[in-house]
Amino acid sequence: MAGSNYPAEPSGEAFGGDTMEVTDIDLCDPGNFVEAVPHGWFAYLRREVPVQWHPDPNGFADGFWSVTRYDDCVAVNRDSTNFSSQRAATLFHDFDEEVLGQQRMMMLNMDPPMHTRYRRLVNKGFTPRMIRDLEANVVASTDAIIDSVCEAGSADFVEQISAELPLQVIADLMGVPQEDRHLMFDWSNKMVGSEDPEYQQEAEAPVQASMELFAYADELCAKKRLDPHQDLFSVLTQAEIEGDQLTSLELDLFFMLLAVAGNETTRNLISGAMVAFFDHPDQWERLRADRSLLPSAIEEMLRYVSPVMHFRRQAAADVVIGDQKITEGDKVVFWHISANRDASVFENPDVFDIGRTPNNHMAFGGGGPHFCLGANLARMEIRVMFDRLLDRVPDIRLDGDVQRLRSNFINGVKHIPVAFTPSAPLGR
Ligand code: HEM
Repeated sequence: MAGSNYPAEPSGEAFGGDTMEVTDIDLCDPGNFVEAVPHGWFAYLRREVPVQWHPDPNGFADGFWSVTRYDDCVAVNRDSTNFSSQRAATLFHDFDEEVLGQQRMMMLNMDPPMHTRYRRLVNKGFTPRMIRDLEANVVASTDAIIDSVCEAGSADFVEQISAELPLQVIADLMGVPQEDRHLMFDWSNKMVGSEDPEYQQEAEAPVQASMELFAYADELCAKKRLDPHQDLFSVLTQAEIEGDQLTSLELDLFFMLLAVAGNETTRNLISGAMVAFFDHPDQWERLRADRSLLPSAIEEMLRYVSPVMHFRRQAAADVVIGDQKITEGDKVVFWHISANRDASVFENPDVFDIGRTPNNHMAFGGGGPHFCLGANLARMEIRVMFDRLLDRVPDIRLDGDVQRLRSNFINGVKHIPVAFTPSAPLGR
């Protein structure tokens, strides 16, 4: 196991260098992700202790299994029989039974057969056609967003550009009227709750926001039942498989999940990829010169950034990961951010190469039953955004300090000051 014929990888100067020990590693403290993702720690773990019992001072148990190699992460992700999403939900944080009861009502925190039934029904709303139909709106939204900053010649890329698009797209997808979009924005921001001091708020704010969103979703679904259109929630209120339909409660919960799942992820992918291009200007020029590289560039952005850094499971039986025995009831955390830099799968994993093929990353999951439902929608948003940026602000450059999010869950960026040559809005 440890060492053996596993490839050597960079040790990461900021995180211990050559003299580091496993006890130096603390993946619980979100403060350790502020400067940068601790890639040196992950490289060390993949090489030396790929399934590590990691201490957890704030957890219900005294630790959790931290899984860092690609093959092991994929195996955990695919095996919902032995690694349950439902037992303790899928977030790092340990919840008491009351909160768990609510968490388990969202599909992300369900196991088969309940999950399978739910997924079959909601799949009806996520068809390729539905995504295609949204594309014209995504282009229009992207152009309007760039219009709002292009004359100034500078912007906060996160607040003014990357945060806006996913919000507008989710509202469109769900059939939320234009005038109510700011409500969605507020609720989803508040619900995510954050360990970053910049976003800290009253303790009741997330609960209050989710109740308001819930009531809103309820009303919206009632309207869609009476007067259906082409949007996702109209489709879902009608969706039926062998007489089975989603209940009002299930629809409301799905609305809530989408508001969160589709927002921060896509925002931080676009932000993180922009920073990657600033760090690798040759790759920006390469993409400018050859737009046919966009599809492979998108996959590389997803691999390199990995906006969702981990998910959690609970062992449902005594089981083995790699060589390591896991006991039923143990907490297991698997790191997408580490799997996507595993040198046994990706050649030169720390290099950002927009032409990389194959690129079987696990940014959307490792092919298990919970594989990201919005993957193709996200890919389309990313494609449109970078295509329009390359056309309209080709000389975009970093113009200050990047500020990262304090989180060990979302690989996030809060502010990216940028500058570019001013231009006239399209005003379409
Ligand atoms: C770059 C953007 C995104 C990333 C990196 C991302 C990542 C993920 C990951 C890692 C999972 C868990 C997969 C697993 O455990 O196997 C997931 C699940 C999910 N995602 Fe995404 N996501 C993104 C965008 C979106 C968008 C735009 C939507 C919807 C509009 C969405 C909706 C969902 C839903 C509903 C689930 C739960 C699926 C289930 O439980 O069966 N995601 N996503």
